[in-house]
Amino acid sequence: MNRLPALSSIAWRITLLYTSLAAIIFVTVALLIHASVEHHFETQDRKVWEGKLELIGHILEEWKSPQDAAQVTRTLTDAMVGHHSLLVRIEFPEGSFRFASGHAEIPAGPGTWRPARDANLPFQPIAWDGANASFRGVVTWVSTGTKGQDMLVYLASDTSHHQDFLTSFDYQLALICGIALLLMSGLAWIATRRGLLPIRDMAEVAESISAQRLHQRLSDAQIPVELRPLAQAFNAMLDRLSDALQRLTDFSTDLAHELRTPISNLMMQTQVCLSKPRGAEDYREILYSNLEEYEHLARMIADMLFLAKADHGLIIPHRESVDLAVEVTALFDYYEALASERQVRLVQQGEGHIQGDRVMLRRAFGNLVVNAIRYTPDGGTVSVLVAASATTVLVSVENPGPTIPPDQIVRIFDRFYRGNASRQRTDEGAGLGLAICQSIVQAHGGDVSVVSFGGITRFAVVFPVDARDGAQPALAA
Ligand SMILES: Nc1ncnc2c1ncn2[C@@H]1O[C@H](COP(=O)(O)OP(=O)(O)OP(=O)(O)O)[C@@H](O)[C@H]1O
Ligand SMILES: [Mg+2]
Repeated sequence: MNRLPALSSIAWRITLLYTSLAAIIFVTVALLIHASVEHHFETQDRKVWEGKLELIGHILEEWKSPQDAAQVTRTLTDAMVGHHSLLVRIEFPEGSFRFASGHAEIPAGPGTWRPARDANLPFQPIAWDGANASFRGVVTWVSTGTKGQDMLVYLASDTSHHQDFLTSFDYQLALICGIALLLMSGLAWIATRRGLLPIRDMAEVAESISAQRLHQRLSDAQIPVELRPLAQAFNAMLDRLSDALQRLTDFSTDLAHELRTPISNLMMQTQVCLSKPRGAEDYREILYSNLEEYEHLARMIADMLFLAKADHGLIIPHRESVDLAVEVTALFDYYEALASERQVRLVQQGEGHIQGDRVMLRRAFGNLVVNAIRYTPDGGTVSVLVAASATTVLVSVENPGPTIPPDQIVRIFDRFYRGNASRQRTDEGAGLGLAICQSIVQAHGGDVSVVSFGGITRFAVVFPVDARDGAQPALAA
């Protein structure tokens, strides 16, 4: 279901909301003003009626007997002179006297017109429509000069001009409110658009960013407080992207560099070999030397492929129960020669099992152990500790040696990253060992970290409990 395009715009939504709220306020205020004007007219009418009732009361006090009818009628007629919009009817209920004045007849009316004998002011006015006009009136009992003979007095005002005024007033009020509403919605639209300008600026900056211009950032100063978290998150994302891009660029440069050295060695040796005729023994020697370079290249390409697979989640460990103590012993046996050559002692402690891929795990721990032996000073001790707790299995590989500076530690798991010392040593690895170790550990749901402090470097590999042997029966093979 497609929404209206206008509803997907913040400016439209705010304008709509603002206009709706303003319309509700305007209508409420207009209704209140209308009611107050109407009330004002009613109060005015009531005052007139009260004045007239007082006057009529005085006149009716002259009524002593039916003979006074003519005199009372005259006085009443005089009293009503000049009050054209006022309708008056005064009568005895049985009809023996009746006086009426005004330009229209007050209708006989329903029962409610006849108040109870003791009804007093304030009384409830009744409104009705005549042939050409609208009226509002009241009725009450007024005592005469004869005790016990009260007359019914009907008083009504012609409210047509009030109604006309109210109609035109309502019309003007509606017009003013309508114009004000239009103006306000227009202003709301402009204000919202202006308020949203920083978002456009952000979009412009975002548009201008490319791989070559990742350094561009949104400046906090020009951005409203509400948008600052967004700008900060955006800048942080750019930092991460820029960092990732830098690593990728370094990686490509390193890759080219790593491939160039063995290939130029091969080329040089081949050129030297071809520079003059040689004996079979010389050729064999050169081919052996080339073979070493080819092996180095093949190993590096295999490592790269492994890491590429890991990046795409394609290294799927074949899970089986792995006794980590046994694996460490096997690794120590394998690297015994390398260690004894440097009089490095290998010490192993503790035990633990995990569900994992034996070959991959051996490769991961192998990389850690080789590094540890390689960076331990002659005569030092490399210790590997396996420890299992209720929630994790830990394998730590510790060796003495120069402390790795913090700026190098953060990059140590990067591909092709090698410390300054080992960069000079061309005989050693390409700097992929720790990256591979990290990929394998992560594929097993674990994590690897390093601390280097006070001349001791320790790599800690932690597997969560669900990778622990026996912790989850479903995983146990
Ligand atoms: N135990 C350690 N002690 C001190 N430095 C270490 C240790 N392990 C690794 N490093 C530093 O980390 C860098 C990267 O190690 P990594 O294992 O990834 O590469 P490498 O050993 O140089 O080559 P490769 O493992 O590919 O043969 C090393 O060059 C070294 O500077
Ligand atoms: Mg290594």
